[in-house]
Amino acid sequence: MKLTLIKLFSSVLLCGLLVSQVQAAPDLANGKNIDQQKCYACHAKKTGFGNGDMIYTRSDSKVKSIANLKRMVSLCNTELRLDLFPEDEADVVAYLNQQFYKLKP
Ligand code: HEC
Repeated sequence: MKLTLIKLFSSVLLCGLLVSQVQAAPDLANGKNIDQQKCYACHAKKTGFGNGDMIYTRSDSKVKSIANLKRMVSLCNTELRLDLFPEDEADVVAYLNQQFYKLKP
């Protein structure tokens, strides 16, 4: 009986560890896909450059820190009802930072 409980407890612990590892490693390819499918076209139109990447590299960028970046992504997501899951938001943030912003976490 005791042993079963210990086993159960340790497998719950292990699961928690696995889950937190999955969350710690963002899926950059997923982030890129989302940017291209849901974000690129509108940014291309809004900036008037016809290039949806340029909003991230414009000289008057509103993004100066990871916290800013998270806020802008979440703002675009909720304002526009793009319905991204929090994990997807995190993937997009990671992708945009790796590709464009290169901010320190
Ligand atoms: C319907 C149009 C639209 C869509 C769709 C959209 N955005 Fe935006 N986004 C904007 C506009 C407009 C701005 C500029 C806002 C400003 O200057 O205050 C902006 C700005 C941003 C910025 C800040 C850029 C900078 O460096 O100043 C980020 C980051 C961003 N969007 C992320 C996203 C992400 C990620 C998605 C998709 C999940 C997305 N947006 C979808 C309209 C959109």
